[in-house]
Amino acid sequence: MKIRDFGVEIWMNAYETSCTYNLAETCVQSLSVGELLDLSGMGQRTLEELLTTRLTYGEIEGSQRLRRAIAGLYEKQRPEDITITNGAIGANALTMLTLVEPGDRVISVLPTYQQHYSIPESIGAVVDILPLREENGWLPDPEELRGLIRKAGGRVKLININNPNNPTGSVMEEPLLRQLVEIAREAGAWLLCDEVYRGLCHQGEPYTVSVADLYEKGISTGSMSKTYSLAGLRLGWITGPRELWEMLSRQRDYHVISVGRVDDLLAAVALESREAISRRNLAICREGGRLLEEFVTGQEHISYVKPKGGTTAFLKYDLPMESAELCRRLQGETGVMLLPGSALDREGYLRIGYCNDPAITKTGLEIFGRWLDEQATHKV
Ligand SMILES: Cc1ncc(COP(=O)(O)O)c(C=O)c1O
Repeated sequence: MKIRDFGVEIWMNAYETSCTYNLAETCVQSLSVGELLDLSGMGQRTLEELLTTRLTYGEIEGSQRLRRAIAGLYEKQRPEDITITNGAIGANALTMLTLVEPGDRVISVLPTYQQHYSIPESIGAVVDILPLREENGWLPDPEELRGLIRKAGGRVKLININNPNNPTGSVMEEPLLRQLVEIAREAGAWLLCDEVYRGLCHQGEPYTVSVADLYEKGISTGSMSKTYSLAGLRLGWITGPRELWEMLSRQRDYHVISVGRVDDLLAAVALESREAISRRNLAICREGGRLLEEFVTGQEHISYVKPKGGTTAFLKYDLPMESAELCRRLQGETGVMLLPGSALDREGYLRIGYCNDPAITKTGLEIFGRWLDEQATHKV
């Protein structure tokens, strides 16, 4: 199966291990096992459980304890609706492999995680892009979605959205989600919302409404990586209607068997203590957001739409340089890593992750600012 190169992952693999100041990180500063156990207040009990866990495949579909904890993140989802996968990357891939066939029509927002348009394309679907525009706060325009569905003759199999959005940090609130659901319903389309950053709205209620709770053909994918700072667990999930679970399960047998028992146990512990993790993580996001706002306000070459959720923002810059060249030079000369917009199919922008260790965010931004000033001085 031919598939386009995955721009973000290729860039991250090439540059992530050699940088000094990682401003390309998308996880809220990751937790160690010790920190997780401390935050959970269940350290001793969990350690004992770990030591006596026999490393079989475990419950193939994920433990009841874990699926119950995941169902608790939703209004209407039940443990038996949850499919456990290897990260959200596994969740998105499994959903598309299950639903999409050659010749199908699929719509995906852009910018987003590239899986959402490149996997269906590789299966042989016709993919139409629903662009997120800066002037619209990086939100999708429902009328444009209607137009794309009309263009497809009304026959769209799947619509892929992402909330909160990577890379822009935009958040779709319930009224907009309901509009999109209504349009998907009229077309009879599945609506997949990648909700891997759900729980990270910085002000007010941290959890957006999930499309799985709003729509009978709504699918939510999520994981432990971003909101819960546990990417090393490689644990994600899909939830949606029972009919979907049956189809996913047949496909899953070929790709997953089960996730690790250690991952399953630690994920359950984390979700059962999610209020403590959430308090820690929202504080990191708000502090990072404050540092970023201060930086953008003082920088004449950078502008942005202030992110409302997630861990990333999409910075527009006005230097006469392609984004890949800018990022290569910046990292080579200063050790500061950013992600070029070109890796996300949007030239002229830089993705910044500002919810890593606040000390790294602070120093990285100061160095980036000085570097930008030097570039501007040389230009004159
Ligand atoms: C929008 C989005 N979906 C999915 C993923 C994959 O996450 P995971 O680590 O859970 O596989 C990422 C990772 O960056 C992401 O940003």
